[in-house]
Amino acid sequence: MGKLQLPERLRWDHNAWYRRWLLRQLPSGAGSALDVGCGLGDLARSIRATSVTAIDASARMVERARATSTEVRWVHGDVFTHELGLFDVVTAEASLHHLPLLEGLTRLAELTKPGGRLVVVGLYSRASFADLATEVVALPANALVGLAKWVTGQRTGSHDPEMPVVWTAPTLAEVRAAASGITPGARVRRRLFWRYSLVWDAPEVH
Ligand SMILES: C[S@@+](CC[C@H](N)C(=O)[O-])C[C@H]1O[C@@H](n2cnc3c(N)ncnc32)[C@H](O)[C@@H]1O
Repeated sequence: MGKLQLPERLRWDHNAWYRRWLLRQLPSGAGSALDVGCGLGDLARSIRATSVTAIDASARMVERARATSTEVRWVHGDVFTHELGLFDVVTAEASLHHLPLLEGLTRLAELTKPGGRLVVVGLYSRASFADLATEVVALPANALVGLAKWVTGQRTGSHDPEMPVVWTAPTLAEVRAAASGITPGARVRRRLFWRYSLVWDAPEVH
């Protein structure tokens, strides 16, 4: 996934950039929501649902997230093995690449109630000419956004130093192939800043 790094002061959080979009994909009036790989819980705290559960495998992330809000049910555990139930809405922001792709996507789909919605914003690895062409546009845009955030004092940094990081990710082709087998009908879209999005409406019976 190697990309040219900006100087620290110009780096910014690409996951946060897509968060507002992600939140807009969630149906209003959702009863239950689950955020998988919640990290420090920024997304989970923004989800509007009757009950929000957020799980992370890192004890430190959950400890810090728990200190920020009592509105969310914070769970320290492995999404594969923790008994969680089913949810109207399941989200995974920058966490699917921490899991083996097929098993991870299958688990996210299983956690989504029939008739519910799964929304993923994920990282992919550059593998095709289209990926390279996108990066040619993304690199200067990335620098410009970083510069604008720095000049206007909105700089937030790229990610928290304690956040678990994984340096590998599936390719977009692998994500599309996995989605067509596991979450048929899912809308997978390439995003500019090294991300893709996946939205899947679980059939009423699955
Ligand atoms: C890059 S962070 C993203 C955090 C947060 N979603 C965000 O966008 O800021 C990925 C998170 O997934 C968590 N994670 C990795 N494997 C997991 C698993 N099997 N079950 C639950 N969480 C997991 C990591 O601990 C990490 O906090």
